[in-house]
Amino acid sequence: MKNMFEKRLSLYEMLTAFSFCMDLIDEKIVGHHNKVAYISMEIGKNLGLSELKLKKLVASALIHDLGIFYVQKFSNTSLDVIVSDEKFNNSLYDLNFFNTFFNLDFEDSRIKNHAEIGYQLFKDKSPVSQIPEIIRYHHHSWNKKNDSETLMLSNILHLADRVAVLIEEDTPILTQRKRIIKIIKQNQDPYFFSEAVEKVINLVSQDFFLFNVNNLAYVKKILNDFFQTPIKLINDKEILKFSKLISHLVDYRSSFTATHSAGVASIAKHLSEYMNYSKKKQKKLEIAGHLHDMGKLVVPPNILNKTGKLTNDEWSIMKSHVYYTYHALSTSEKLKEIREWAAFHHEKLNGTGYPFHLTKDQLSFGSKIIGVADVFTAITEDRPYRKKFKYLKAIEILSKMAKNGELDSKLVNIIVDNFNEFNELREEIQVRNKNYFKEFNNKAKDIINSDSLNYY
Ligand SMILES: [Fe+2]
Ligand SMILES: [Fe+2]
Ligand SMILES: [Fe+2]
Repeated sequence: MKNMFEKRLSLYEMLTAFSFCMDLIDEKIVGHHNKVAYISMEIGKNLGLSELKLKKLVASALIHDLGIFYVQKFSNTSLDVIVSDEKFNNSLYDLNFFNTFFNLDFEDSRIKNHAEIGYQLFKDKSPVSQIPEIIRYHHHSWNKKNDSETLMLSNILHLADRVAVLIEEDTPILTQRKRIIKIIKQNQDPYFFSEAVEKVINLVSQDFFLFNVNNLAYVKKILNDFFQTPIKLINDKEILKFSKLISHLVDYRSSFTATHSAGVASIAKHLSEYMNYSKKKQKKLEIAGHLHDMGKLVVPPNILNKTGKLTNDEWSIMKSHVYYTYHALSTSEKLKEIREWAAFHHEKLNGTGYPFHLTKDQLSFGSKIIGVADVFTAITEDRPYRKKFKYLKAIEILSKMAKNGELDSKLVNIIVDNFNEFNELREEIQVRNKNYFKEFNNKAKDIINSDSLNYY
C-alpha cells in the first residue's frame, strides 16, 4: 500500500497540530508550548547541539505538557498551577501554592507527575525515539552523576519552561529581565546544568530575545523555518497511532462520551468499506474519525462534562470545537482532506449545520461519512441525560435526518440495512477502548498519588 499522502507528512507538521490545541487549553498558557520550543531552540543552538539533537529537543518542547490533561481532570483545577503562577516570585516552585491549589499533601516531586503521564501517553506512539524520555524528565533536577544525552536535553527543556513561566503577561518584558536572571541564578543548583544557565542568561540579557519570546507569530515562523528540513517523514501507521493518542485525550476529557471518537473512527471506516474505497482512503477516514472532535481539547472540562442543559454561553463555546478542529489541522496543507472530513461533521447537507454553514455541493463524501458516523455513534451510546437509543428509535432518528436533508441518505440506508452489524462493531470497539482507558486511568491515578518519582 502506498502512503496516504502524496507528499508525506513530517513529524513536525503532526506535532504542531496537537500543539495548536494545547496552547489554547487555558488563557493563562496561550502560546506556552511554542514559547518553550523557541527558548529551548535558542539555548540548544548556543550550546552547539547537533541538528538532530536540537530538533528532537524542540519537537519535545512543542508538546511537553501533554500529561496536563490528566492532572487537570484528576485535580479539578486550572492548568495555570503548572505553567504560570502569580505568587511565583522567589523560587521556581512555590510548594505552598501548589498545596492550596491541589488540596493534597503535596511534595516537591508532584510537579513531575504530568511529565511522567506525558511519557506514558507518548512512549508507544512517538515516531521518533527519545522524545518521550525527554518529556519524562522535564521537571527533574540536574543530576551531575547521570548526565546522559536525554537528561541533558530534558534539562534544557526544563530551563526553557521555567523562563517562559517567569515572564509575566502584563508587565513590559524588558523590565522583567533582572528578576528572571536573579531567580534562574538562585536556582541553578540543584535544578539546571551550568552551561545551559550561562547561555540562557546571555540570551535574556539581549532585548531582541525577550521581544521574540513574546512575539508568537514570529516564534511560529522561526520554528517553521527551522523544520523546513524535517526531522522525520512519518508513515500511515505512525499517523494512525498519533491520531489514536489525540482521540484518547479527547475521549478521556469527556467522561460522558468516553469512547465516542473511537466509535466514530470505526463506523467511518466501516462505511467506507461499504463504499468500496481503497484501503488507503479507509485508513484516512479512520484517522479523520479519531480527530473529528480534536477541537474539544480547547473546550473547558466543566462544559464538556456538564450533566444539565448548557446555557447559551456554554453552548456557543461548545460549538467552537469544530472550528478549532479545522484550525488545528490547518497547520499543513497535506492534511487538507482529513481536515475537511474531520471538521465538517456538524455541517448539514441543507446548510443548517455549523460552523461554516456549508451545503450539499460543498461537502465531500468523506465529510458526509464522518457526519453520519458521528450521529449514529452518538445516538447508540449512553449519555448522562439519556440511555442509548434502541434499534427502532435510532433508525427513526437517522431516517428523519436523511429525509430533512441533513444527512446523506445513501449512507443512512447502508446503516439502516445493516444496523446490527454496525451496532455490534461500535459496541465492540468502544468496550475495548473503555478497558484500555480504564487501565491507563489507573496507571495515571497511581502516578498522581505517588509521593516521589525517581528514575535515576
Ligand atoms: Fe511541565
Ligand atoms: Fe511547561
Ligand atoms: Fe463534534
